[in-house]
Amino acid sequence: MTAIKLLPDLLISQIAAGEVVERPASALKEILENSIDAGATEVSSQLFQGGTRLIRVADNGTGIARDEMALALSRHATSKITTLEDLQNVASLGFRGEALASIAGVSRLMLTSCRNGEIHGWRVEIEGGRLSPPEPAGRVNGTTVEVHDLYFNTPARRKFLKSEATEFSHSEEAFKRIALSRCDIAFTLQHNGLIRSRLPAADAKTRITAMLGEEFSHNSVYIENDAADLRLSGLAALPAYSRSARDAQYFFVNGRYVRDKLIAHAMREAYRDILHHDRHPAFVLFLEIDANGVDVNVHPTKTEVRFRDPRALHQFIFHAVNKALASPGHVSSASISAHDQTVGKTAIGKKGDAFSSFSGYSRQKVIPLNPPLGVAQAAAFYSTLFRPETSNTESGFESTQGDGVKQSDLPLGFALGQLLGTYILSQNERGLVIVDMHAAHERILYERLKFALDNQKVMMQPLLIPATFHATSLDMATVEENPATLRELGFEICAFSPTMLVVRSVPATLKDADIVKLAREVLGDIREFGASEALTSRRNDLLSTMACHGAVRANRMLTFPEMNALLREMETTERAGQCNHGRPTWFEISSADLDRMFMRGR
Ligand SMILES: Nc1ncnc2c1ncn2[C@@H]1O[C@H](COP(=O)(O)OP(=O)(O)OP(=O)(O)O)[C@@H](O)[C@H]1O
Ligand SMILES: [Mg+2]
Repeated sequence: MTAIKLLPDLLISQIAAGEVVERPASALKEILENSIDAGATEVSSQLFQGGTRLIRVADNGTGIARDEMALALSRHATSKITTLEDLQNVASLGFRGEALASIAGVSRLMLTSCRNGEIHGWRVEIEGGRLSPPEPAGRVNGTTVEVHDLYFNTPARRKFLKSEATEFSHSEEAFKRIALSRCDIAFTLQHNGLIRSRLPAADAKTRITAMLGEEFSHNSVYIENDAADLRLSGLAALPAYSRSARDAQYFFVNGRYVRDKLIAHAMREAYRDILHHDRHPAFVLFLEIDANGVDVNVHPTKTEVRFRDPRALHQFIFHAVNKALASPGHVSSASISAHDQTVGKTAIGKKGDAFSSFSGYSRQKVIPLNPPLGVAQAAAFYSTLFRPETSNTESGFESTQGDGVKQSDLPLGFALGQLLGTYILSQNERGLVIVDMHAAHERILYERLKFALDNQKVMMQPLLIPATFHATSLDMATVEENPATLRELGFEICAFSPTMLVVRSVPATLKDADIVKLAREVLGDIREFGASEALTSRRNDLLSTMACHGAVRANRMLTFPEMNALLREMETTERAGQCNHGRPTWFEISSADLDRMFMRGR
């Protein structure tokens, strides 16, 4: 065994860089945050070759004094906090005194800065831990940080860098978050000499519109809500602007972009009654909270936070957003599909109430399907269902069908027809069964996908005609970074051109889905959950997304054999009584209920 030795400073920085400077985008984020902390009102950023060749950020902030430049580049040196108490009340974005040192550990860094009011600035260079003495520089009022050749001295990390376009797309997203967080600061972003974004200082709505587009702003409600030491403001999109991926969700806590489970949950709840479950809300919201009510020192990237009173915060966010979305005029102007209205929780509740007062009828609890059909019976049925159709056996009106299986054997009975493009009506031994065909099919597909993945038997179905589509740069990046995850899920997706993706195979169970929409959502989920979580803790969420896309849509006319096949599949699928989101998939109205409704026999 070798003796214990202190690691050299450069090596420590390089190890820390692994957490702080994962890729060019994370370096850009740190440098931009420093400019904001320095009180800058104008910040320009230039990237070359996705930021791997050069990241240059210039600001008009307070600047760094000549004698402090070396400190700025040392680890654990910060001007932002001095005591533990400061850390608990931290109001700046930075506080570790680690970012610049970490970036300098894995690049050639130049720092040029001039304190406000001085007539010229100073410049230092640092490479491989060696800092040059400060030299006078013709730079006034502010700081320029240049990061050249990121990872030039850590080839292992360099290998993990993706294409220039992918790296730039991550940087662009980092820039977007920063630019949204501070509309009072002017920002520009250039890549390879071309301006990609020019944002003058503006009010919040103008900035948000510049970043997320007119359509988003037009379809959003303004939220402004104060309570004790909490304040929530920003824009939340109405369902008309809901997304198929979680790619337009920006939540800032005291100006810091965060991804937080508690907040995500409160937002989901707030939208629950008005948004179909396969859509994701879009929002840009700013929470201001007393600094000691939130701990930001949780994770190296500082995108996670911990709240002192999570329950109160959850309530506050939920109510503020829910109330704003429910204001008269908003929800009705949104395009909630007929399907949403009928399956949405509140909608069912409301309709149910009206319905029950009409006749004394009360909705049935979902009856568990027991016993499930035996395999032999099911198989026998399949053959009857797909026999050439004959006039009246197809609807199952006859009490006995060929092959000797009686109607009474089948808990969900035989299809009578389709209602409103959404429900299958069927008759069983007890009375009428109403099935939400999408919800039921979704559950079936979900259970099949789970089973296939558990048994590593996801069957890939090569597409006869591969589906190509224009992809966002983030989608391009997700494909490049997650080939193994996608394969495991049964997808073969690759780049077709710098801006197009091609889907060559999908899981066989989903071959009838809208392939492009499905692919976009899966990519969105993988990005959101992270590759490893997508196959572990968030796996079921992902499969649920996939199932939703494979499931038959409202307004698709089903043939009787199709309807009956769906009923039979429900009978053999576990948990078929509820959709993947816990809502019922079917109801039964017994003949006694019907008699009561019509006051028969009284
Ligand atoms: N653009 C800038 N303008 C003025 N001062 C700066 C600028 N960038 C960095 N500094 C100074 O350099 C110090 C070190 O910056 P660095 O980013 O390494 O650490 P930090 O911001 O204090 O904490 P963190 O590691 O959490 O970002 C800062 O505390 C600040 O005093
Ligand atoms: Mg910093």
